[in-house]
Amino acid sequence: MSIDVEDSVNDFVKQHREGSVAFIVVDNPPVNALRAEVRAGLLDAFSAARDDKAVAAIVLMCAGRTFVAGADITEFGKPPMPPPLSEVIDTIEAMDKPTVAAVHGTALGGGLELALSCRYRVATPSAKLGLPEIKLGLMPGAGGTQRLPRLIGVEKALGMIISGDPVPAQSALESGLVDEVVEGDLGAAAAAFARKLVAEKRMREPVRDMTEKLAEMRSNPAKFDELAAAHLKRSRGLAAPAAAVDAVRSSFEASFEEGLKRERAKFLELLAGDQSKAQRHVFFAEREAAKVADLPKDAKPRQIKRAAVIGAGTMGGGIAMCFANAGIPVKIVEMSKEALDRGLATIAKNYRNTAARGGLTAEEVDRRIGLIEGELSLEAVSDADIVIEAVFEEMELKKRVFADLDRLAKNDAVLATNTSYLDVNAIAQATNRPGSVVGMHFFSPANVMKLLEVVRGAATAPDVLATAIDVGRRIGKAPAVVGVCHGFVGNRMLRVRGIEAERLLLEGALPQDVDGALTSFGFPMGPFAMGDLAGLDVGWRVRKAEGRRAEIADRLCEMGRFGQKTGKGFYVYEAGSRTPKPDPEVERLIVETSARLGVKREAISKEDILERLVYPMINEGARILEEKVAQRPGDIDVIWIYGYGWPVWRGGPMYYADQVGLAAISARLREFAQKTGDKTLEPAPLLAQLLALLSWTAAADEPHDRQLPAVTVSAGRASMTWSPLTTRGR
Ligand SMILES: NC(=O)c1ccc[n+]([C@@H]2O[C@H](COP(=O)([O-])OP(=O)(O)OC[C@H]3O[C@@H](n4cnc5c(N)ncnc54)[C@H](O)[C@@H]3O)[C@@H](O)[C@H]2O)c1
Repeated sequence: MSIDVEDSVNDFVKQHREGSVAFIVVDNPPVNALRAEVRAGLLDAFSAARDDKAVAAIVLMCAGRTFVAGADITEFGKPPMPPPLSEVIDTIEAMDKPTVAAVHGTALGGGLELALSCRYRVATPSAKLGLPEIKLGLMPGAGGTQRLPRLIGVEKALGMIISGDPVPAQSALESGLVDEVVEGDLGAAAAAFARKLVAEKRMREPVRDMTEKLAEMRSNPAKFDELAAAHLKRSRGLAAPAAAVDAVRSSFEASFEEGLKRERAKFLELLAGDQSKAQRHVFFAEREAAKVADLPKDAKPRQIKRAAVIGAGTMGGGIAMCFANAGIPVKIVEMSKEALDRGLATIAKNYRNTAARGGLTAEEVDRRIGLIEGELSLEAVSDADIVIEAVFEEMELKKRVFADLDRLAKNDAVLATNTSYLDVNAIAQATNRPGSVVGMHFFSPANVMKLLEVVRGAATAPDVLATAIDVGRRIGKAPAVVGVCHGFVGNRMLRVRGIEAERLLLEGALPQDVDGALTSFGFPMGPFAMGDLAGLDVGWRVRKAEGRRAEIADRLCEMGRFGQKTGKGFYVYEAGSRTPKPDPEVERLIVETSARLGVKREAISKEDILERLVYPMINEGARILEEKVAQRPGDIDVIWIYGYGWPVWRGGPMYYADQVGLAAISARLREFAQKTGDKTLEPAPLLAQLLALLSWTAAADEPHDRQLPAVTVSAGRASMTWSPLTTRGR
């Protein structure tokens, strides 16, 4: 077959020839994922180009907004469909004519592995290239771990594979990942590049045969071990980074074929493993969490060009940094010059620290600081498209601030509150435009934590909600939409965990036992170390407002032990250290308190501690779903993973509930309720309904989500992974 006219290989791959250069173009919107038909089309097109005498060189590129941005992950977990990507890659790599991948947008995962099969790569200045498989608990599985080290060196390849972060075209050029960064029309530039190769009779060896950049590690494998150890230190509990390190090690220790074999085996092992299943769940859940089922289609986000933040404290400063980081000018308003100077100094210090660690250039730091303007009068909000209030957590104060904002802000400005617990509806009622008010609950440190709970008030207008979600994404957050209740989703579940943690202390555990159970599970920190870090006085104030006591924590606060900032809390801290050390004084206090309250202390196992902390959270999650404060179980998972350190490879609390099984969880909850006399620990009605449904299904052996539309049954087990909203959406 000769390629001389615009021609379709199939619905997803097109080809045409310009002179002696053949173009093979993938056209599978939106991201040109490598579905089976794309692979088959590429195989056919490259075979035809190989056999066509009129073709001297081939350009591989993509239609639409991006190069191939990855495998089609909806194919994961299903029987493999031929042809495999590896066959496509082998065919392209074996071509005896120059092949040029022309990259725009992003070349990710299988997309980058495909580009590595070409002899040369050119890219637009804005293109990005990466192997993000690690973020799904996987690793490259079509030669990426073997070819990338050969092309750019082992150290750089390992960094890209373990971080999963894409690199911009300019650094790809410097590392040798791309051969030229081209301006103007990509197709024309790639064709010119290809014609030059033909004219100069240049033809480089395929990447698989390159060895030069492996030499360093071959002669000094200890260096690789050092690098690997540094990477793995940051990925405790995760299987994928360890597997990726082993595969990259094979690139210089073994032959190319052997390396490919090892890579494939490890990839398949990860794909079938529980961790990647959980991480894939989180990947989809994150995308769902920002969707609002009943948002009218015409609810378009408002344009946000300027922002204002009220309060330059812990949260306000971090929030202002988020806007500056995204290039959006932001004013930060304080009450006094001292507070403002302090806030601005903290922002500058944070930026300087990032720069010192090599995360930002000095110019970039200056540019971002330049986008943040301090102000002492609320009138400064008059040109802001969005205002985010982050003053003290006091209702009367917030109402006053919102009444003022109502007077001073532009008519179409979005007015957001960062409150942690307070009633967003009551705050909205302090204005004459409650439809413009929304909660935007950031997490500390706000410039780092990815979660943004977008709190939808009773009156929040659809386009205001859409704006909060949209701007959240622009500033790099994972927005999850929640309804109004005390503490919204995250803090409401945290509160339940906190109550059980305190009870465990009285019943026989020590802070380090409780924290240890959670860190073994995969949390970076347990509740007591976290309390010490955040300041125990924060929770103390919340409990006082709620009219409840926590015997141990309140006593510690009364003793002036506020945590790290006073050097003592649940633990003791040596001067200048943030490492919690068990404190005999605290142990004495706990034992005495148990005795005073007449609670018999006994040994509690790690498993029992974990169940006692986590199952009541799941129970509260079920209530949150019943009340429709969260739209879907996956939203709760996203909130706990991105806001509270739930280990991503365990998929979030509601996903975990499915793994454990709701029957076992309900039985334990009934035991906890009986032991403590706390009726709120009885299984939530939704759990009971699910279990009733489960036994009903087992008897009837047919699906019946019609009978009980709040839930469905998956794989013979009662499942909370599905809600009416998600099932409708799929
Ligand atoms: N700290 C956290 O971990 C966290 C997390 C999420 C949400 N929040 C919420 O964010 C809000 C702020 O918390 P924070 O920890 O940043 O408190 P903070 O005490 O560190 O800062 C509050 C700042 O607001 C300023 N302020 C008070 N009244 C003001 C006014 N009328 N005009 C301008 N500035 C005013 C204060 O001077 C202070 O600098 C609270 O609603 C809190 O519940 C806090």
